[in-house]
Amino acid sequence: MTYQNLLLEMHGKVALITLNRPQALNALSPELTAELSALLDALEADDSVAAVVITGSEKAFAAGADIKAMKDWSYMDVYKSDFITASWERLTTFRKPSIAAVAGYALGGGCELAMMCDFIIAADTAKFGQPEITIGTIPGAGGTQRLTRFIGKSKAMDMVLTGRMMDAQEAERCGLVSRLVPADRLIEEALAAAEKISQMSAPIAMMAKDAVNRAFETTLAEGIHFERRLFHSTFATEDQKEGMAAFVEKRKPSFRNR
Ligand code: HXC
Repeated sequence: MTYQNLLLEMHGKVALITLNRPQALNALSPELTAELSALLDALEADDSVAAVVITGSEKAFAAGADIKAMKDWSYMDVYKSDFITASWERLTTFRKPSIAAVAGYALGGGCELAMMCDFIIAADTAKFGQPEITIGTIPGAGGTQRLTRFIGKSKAMDMVLTGRMMDAQEAERCGLVSRLVPADRLIEEALAAAEKISQMSAPIAMMAKDAVNRAFETTLAEGIHFERRLFHSTFATEDQKEGMAAFVEKRKPSFRNR
């Protein structure tokens, strides 16, 4: 399949997806998000892919949903199509590890897309924001919910009500991003993190991701219970046997994804 709005490069077992609408600061048009969803379907089905990095350009990860596309939509247009459900949310059901590598603007839907990834590595040039209120709407792809869970109510309210941008340092301080790196090392660092993950057992990485994500969906007791059961189930895998045997034998494990 060819993509008009995305670039795909394989780095070993890591797929690097670049959002590629530079003329619009990677504004997330319906065509782009449909392509991203289709590409994620293909990468999920491909056993040679262990992890995904999503990035944009130096100037913008993505400056939001495409305002030019949205501006004349009616209530019925967005309600009946349930804008944004299907294509945007594909990332949240993607079972392989995903990293957002953010330089420049990650605004509105761009910030929301980054937050749908498992974690965010930010360049020191990154700027995050939910400026929807400044154009007469509110975040619609999880911004009021994920941002609040990630950085707390006070900061989320500040961002969503004032529409201000947060720089990379503030984003790191408040836990929105996991790592802050010099802009010229962003892709290298994100690929290295993804490569590190790709050396792990793929099914165990899926379980780890599933368990962490459950923390956002349930009570502590239920989450701990879910974690415990998944932890137990790792003992049914060949990779747990191999991992622990390799430790005891002082060698590197050779995981077989089984
Ligand atoms: C469509 C956009 C766009 C967007 C930028 N562009 N953001 N087009 N949708 N979200 C286009 C501009 O119109 C312009 O096209 C070109 O990209 C370059 O942008 P400039 O504004 O000229 O660049 P600059 O002056 O550097 O300002 C950068 C910026 C600004 C601060 C990021 O572009 C900006 O404020 N963008 C909108 C940010 C925003 O409000 N995002 C939230 C969208 S709503 P032309 O043709 O003029 O050269 C949203 C809701 C999600 O995301 C809800 C779930 C779906």
